[in-house]
Amino acid sequence: MKKHFNTKAIHEGHEGFDPDSMSVPIYQSVAYPYFDAKEAAAIFSGEKPGYTYGRWDNPTVNVFEKRMASLENAESAIATASGMAAIFLLAHHLLESGDEIVSSNRVYGGTFSLFAVGFKKMGVKVKWVTEPESLNAWESQITKNTKFLFVESPSNPSLFIADIPALAKLAKSKKIPLVVDNTITTPALQVPIDLGADLIVHSTTKYICGNASSLGGIICGSKQYVEGMRKSGMRYLGPTMAPFNAWLNINGLETLGLRMERHCSNAMAVAKFLENHPRVASVNYPGLVSNPYHKMMEKQMKGCSSLMSFELKGTYDDATAFIDSLEFIIHATHLGTCKSIVTHPASTTHSAMGEVEMRKAGITPSLIRFSIGLEDEADLIADIKQGLEHPGKREKKTRVKS
Ligand SMILES: Cc1ncc(COP(=O)(O)O)c(C=O)c1O
Repeated sequence: MKKHFNTKAIHEGHEGFDPDSMSVPIYQSVAYPYFDAKEAAAIFSGEKPGYTYGRWDNPTVNVFEKRMASLENAESAIATASGMAAIFLLAHHLLESGDEIVSSNRVYGGTFSLFAVGFKKMGVKVKWVTEPESLNAWESQITKNTKFLFVESPSNPSLFIADIPALAKLAKSKKIPLVVDNTITTPALQVPIDLGADLIVHSTTKYICGNASSLGGIICGSKQYVEGMRKSGMRYLGPTMAPFNAWLNINGLETLGLRMERHCSNAMAVAKFLENHPRVASVNYPGLVSNPYHKMMEKQMKGCSSLMSFELKGTYDDATAFIDSLEFIIHATHLGTCKSIVTHPASTTHSAMGEVEMRKAGITPSLIRFSIGLEDEADLIADIKQGLEHPGKREKKTRVKS
């Protein structure tokens, strides 16, 4: 029977456990005893299916992998300890010293640091595309040494939306894979493989887990790529997802479809409110009809998720004063949870880029990022309104004494 998104998000991959249980069992074990030496040899050689060692396989993690592969319409998936571990494992698999990649410069700060600092140490060159809206800008950076194209769409925090089908066509014409970071939309809202992409990475730490309780990452793609990673880098690098974290992510998937609907509707209400507020210079939320990426968003996404950024009229200090005035919206460097979060990229997530690179990536001193959660729309707007109209430190009902 052909199953749809929510049915797959709730059931896929949960099979073969004895005794069976409503909740996927947590196999909190590093190794798996063999029946006899013959079986050990057969499992190790791949002749017989089975588990060997927790660094590269685990039954609970495996359920999460199967479920994510199914949701991303991919042949296979491999879960990792974090989103950064996923990007590193993928890059390690595809690259040798002397190779190059071509990447949009509108990427999460950690990804930027891995590419700019980590890759340099390993002899890999990154060709940045500073105008990622232009296909020519991408094409002009590709050389015979380019091993993949990398794009984050929508991007964190500038909300750039790539033309994924056009980039996929370009990648195919050069016989290289297109890698898409699908963290912000999740497969509930965008399936990049259906748009022509080859490999998908996620920080499952965000919307997929959904409540800020565990780090996680995943790579989805063809069996050849993914199982290649499991047989190589996964074994000797060790960026493994813990079974308990896989269980938390599986539970997150069960409500992902519903949560994303509410994230989208709350975010749209907040974006419309911000767009009409006199203290706000501009709002980056592609769900708004006025946004330059709105048409692209409608073509390839089912909804716009809940990450947005906006430019406050004023300075760095005005931005931080607004953040300190919010009552229940939490100031943290995170996104994609039930709880709404405010972040100041210039002083936190993107500060390592330095001022020049930040400007190039559209991150200004008064840019504020919101990850809109699942609270009541009216309360969200009330908190933001009081912060904009009466800035100043609020007595927060925090859990920690200062
Ligand atoms: C789009 C995107 N990709 C990757 C990452 C890295 O994920 P993690 O924090 O799970 O390592 C993040 C983190 O914020 C992100 O926003």
